[in-house]
Amino acid sequence: MKGIILAGGNGTRLHPLTKVISKHLLPVYDKPMIYYPIQTLEDIGVNEILIISTERDLPLYQKLLENEEWGIKFYYKVQKEPKGIAEALILGEEFIGKDPFILMLGDNLVISDSFNKHVKQAFSNNDGATIFGIETNNPSAFGIAEIDGDNKVISIDEKPANPKSNIAVIGIYIYNNNAVNYAKQLKPSKRGELEITDINKMYLEQQTLKLFKIEDARWFDTGTIENLYEAASYIKSLDK
Ligand code: G1P
Repeated sequence: MKGIILAGGNGTRLHPLTKVISKHLLPVYDKPMIYYPIQTLEDIGVNEILIISTERDLPLYQKLLENEEWGIKFYYKVQKEPKGIAEALILGEEFIGKDPFILMLGDNLVISDSFNKHVKQAFSNNDGATIFGIETNNPSAFGIAEIDGDNKVISIDEKPANPKSNIAVIGIYIYNNNAVNYAKQLKPSKRGELEITDINKMYLEQQTLKLFKIEDARWFDTGTIENLYEAASYIKSLDK
């Protein structure tokens, strides 16, 4: 089973912490941030992971992960510039081949007893794309899914000014290999990035997009100092 972790970007919202080092190597309580998505993927049964990061940081990931006893084979790929999450699908073309895979954002942490079980199940039932939604009180900061009573997706918008719901699409995506061709058709958004929300919209148009609504988990996008701190103290409280 294959997974991709995107650990690129400039982490500008965390400056000066990320001035000389990748955000995903910062500590979240007692582990580097990237250990959390790796652990999630390992628990699900992923045994091959492509790590995508900047030219500057990729050697550090190699050094960190190759000395660890993960039951995983790691592959590495440079993302030259932060051109968006969906660029990971193009960079991952060779790694993905004809297989389905899970894409995870290296700064998304899901803390739950049952989440990994749901993802595993979703992976085996996936025949297009499966995304995961969780309620947020800050819907203008994320990809937002409008759903009906059966959790069927009606629309998805990236950081909407007038959100149609409070269901955030979190940074873990299951795709079949059509995602690679979809990504090649994308045009950069206003912020100059290939948007993962546009990929999800393509699956929605083809009626091959499923959403799994998570009810019993804490989710952190640790891209801001407040969330990074909150995630660390939450994990510390669990550790106790
Ligand atoms: C990205 C995605 C967004 C998603 C979020 C999850 O946002 O574009 O759809 O909800 O990750 O963390 P970004 O981190 O690029 O602002």
